[in-house]
Amino acid sequence: MRRKMAAGNWKMNGSSAALGVISELAAAHADSTDTDTDIVICPPAPLLFRASELARSSALTIGAQDCHSAPSGAFTGDIAAPMIADTGATHVIVGHSERRDAYHESNSDVRAKTMAAWDAGLTAILCIGESAATREAGNTLDIIAEQLSGSVPDGTTGGNLVVAYEPVWAIGTGAVATTAQINEVHDFIRTRLIQRLGDEVGTAIRLLYGGSVKPGNATEIFQCANVDGALVGGASLKAQDFTPIIHALI
Ligand code: G3H
Repeated sequence: MRRKMAAGNWKMNGSSAALGVISELAAAHADSTDTDTDIVICPPAPLLFRASELARSSALTIGAQDCHSAPSGAFTGDIAAPMIADTGATHVIVGHSERRDAYHESNSDVRAKTMAAWDAGLTAILCIGESAATREAGNTLDIIAEQLSGSVPDGTTGGNLVVAYEPVWAIGTGAVATTAQINEVHDFIRTRLIQRLGDEVGTAIRLLYGGSVKPGNATEIFQCANVDGALVGGASLKAQDFTPIIHALI
């Protein structure tokens, strides 16, 4: 039985004033033993230390939005996975489509970042997903297969990897994928993971859907068999929006 996960990606939004959202969610989920759902908030890097302190002793955990593949070095402006772990954060998003696009991150870059995350003891939330052009050309599953084989390293325990399927055309657009589209891709991802990693590990990896998840559509999305939760952008910025999404999972 896989634990469910509600992960919030704040992207480049939020200041110290936004930490009130973390306090509110931590207070609402103060008992870490009362749910089989992991709640993860990924704020911008400058907030990681304080967010981790506020989340301590609650069911809430904190993640970063990216890491470098090296543990330290001359990489001005970058953040290493051990530094993320040092803040008290436990997760890191890797391979988000915004980084694949704006920073030209390749599948092999994402694979290296994932291994760096594991070396630091972090759980990687690894994002994959097709563009609108790829879907229109009928090549969605080919691209998903390529991203999976290129980005997912060998050696996962199952628990230290979460795969987030985020169709690029659904991110921040309000154009959520249909449950038929979500089922097709999530079932495909599950099959591929089992073929490559074996039944036990392939079944243990959690699969999140991301792309315009809102309180109004979360329940329907979570009914898809291989959807174990969501990676939520805009609707994770306010507790009043994220809380109903969490409740749709619990
Ligand atoms: O990481 C989160 C995704 O990019 C989804 O963002 O919920 O604002 O569409 P969104």
